[in-house]
Amino acid sequence: MHLPDFKVARSNNKIDYKKKEYSLASKYLNKYKDKKCFLKTYGCQMNEHDSENIKGILELLGFDFINDIDNADLVLLNTCSIRENAHNKAFGLLGKAKHLKESKRDLMIGLCGCMAQEEIVVNTIMEKYPFVNFVIGTHNFYQLPEILEKSEEKQQIEVYSREGDLIESLPVDRTSKYKAYVNIIYGCDKFCTYCIVPYTRGRQRSREKEDILKEVDNLIKDGYKEVTLLGQNVNAYGKDLYDNYSLAELLEDVAKTNIPRIRFMTSHPWDFNDKMIEVIAKYPNIMPSIHLPVQSGSDRILKLMGRRYTKDKYLTLFHKMKEMIPNCAISTDIIVGFPGETEEDFLETLSLVKECKYDNAYTFIYSPRVGTPAAKLPDNVTKEEKEQRLYKLNEIVNAYFKENNDKLVGKTVSVLVEGISDKKNEYYGYSETNKLINFTGDNIEIGSIVDVFITTAKTWSLDGKASE
Ligand code: 5AD
Ligand code: SF4
Repeated sequence: MHLPDFKVARSNNKIDYKKKEYSLASKYLNKYKDKKCFLKTYGCQMNEHDSENIKGILELLGFDFINDIDNADLVLLNTCSIRENAHNKAFGLLGKAKHLKESKRDLMIGLCGCMAQEEIVVNTIMEKYPFVNFVIGTHNFYQLPEILEKSEEKQQIEVYSREGDLIESLPVDRTSKYKAYVNIIYGCDKFCTYCIVPYTRGRQRSREKEDILKEVDNLIKDGYKEVTLLGQNVNAYGKDLYDNYSLAELLEDVAKTNIPRIRFMTSHPWDFNDKMIEVIAKYPNIMPSIHLPVQSGSDRILKLMGRRYTKDKYLTLFHKMKEMIPNCAISTDIIVGFPGETEEDFLETLSLVKECKYDNAYTFIYSPRVGTPAAKLPDNVTKEEKEQRLYKLNEIVNAYFKENNDKLVGKTVSVLVEGISDKKNEYYGYSETNKLINFTGDNIEIGSIVDVFITTAKTWSLDGKASE
């Protein structure tokens, strides 16, 4: 049994980890043939991609995947810790699974992902949720077959507090046949004061460039049109492995594979350098779409958040990107109601938003996370004030989404076709700048990249028709 421990997660000592190739002992192959798994994923793209690996592993064990929890033999929750409501949703589903288990005693219930890394969650499960068969951490989910087997006997808690080995060649069942996530770096070393990720995902570990490029080559052979290079902070790629090979060089090498579309997320402004911007501008297959979280426009709050930049520095980077990368769309994340945020601080955020006119923005009310430094800060801002700030911010950002979309009416954009909607002859897909486009056309191949003439702009999507 391994239990999570935030002191260990926070400690500065370097943990030796090894790169290993995944292998499954033959005794596990089809061990659970015809059993059914209900897998629920919460949170970010990183979790979505972990779930694709979890599916890959469980399919080798013989599991089929179903959407109906009532018929499941295994209920598995891949959880998120980023805000309190993610916790609440997962505990809500655990309650439902408990109810199911009352009439189906051999139902297996497991919890993995970021919540598994939290002491407070694991203690609650051990004390109050004896019906949960296993808890398995983000660093060791590849041990699922062994832990599942052991949990048939008694509750298993297997959570490494710091990074485990870096596993290559994990089985994967990807959700899309055209768009793929490719991890390039795990964990984060930034320790922003509000954020739980460095504790739940461990320290920065980059994958070797050869492994990444091999994965991209294989995706191209399988007909994939788009890769998204994933990491909590992709701009730190390579720092732990190489002297002269960073995200800039990696993007360039991936661009040279000629895969039609490359995206990457998420970026920390502090690690974004000119060379990266130059490479993005140079290669047409690197999409001109950058997610650049700002979090706040107030220098005082940015400092308390430990973000390592000022409003001015962020704006300089922002404008450089807009200048150097033609038609670049920039999206962001913003937190309102950080402890002690004053009306003046909030107005600084609004003034930044008015200057940046983001193409997209994910906005959140600050949620205290136990174990992070910000959770200990005094906070005299009321819930109502925080809600009002979020409302006001959303009104403004939404107006800019529409304003940016309006500029595309009458223009032609390139769209990767992802599917056909319920309405006959209506397709949907995403533009290079990551905008959802619904469009009409005849006999269009799903997975192809087509030109679409934009006729109407809405706040979160655009309508158009395929060009002849
Ligand atoms: N409260 C609210 N939002 C948070 N985020 C991260 N931690 C918290 C928190 N404690 C937001 C940040 C980050 C995004 C993924 O989630 O904006 O960029
Ligand atoms: Fe969290 Fe992102 Fe800051 Fe890392 S850079 S600590 S993931 S907000």
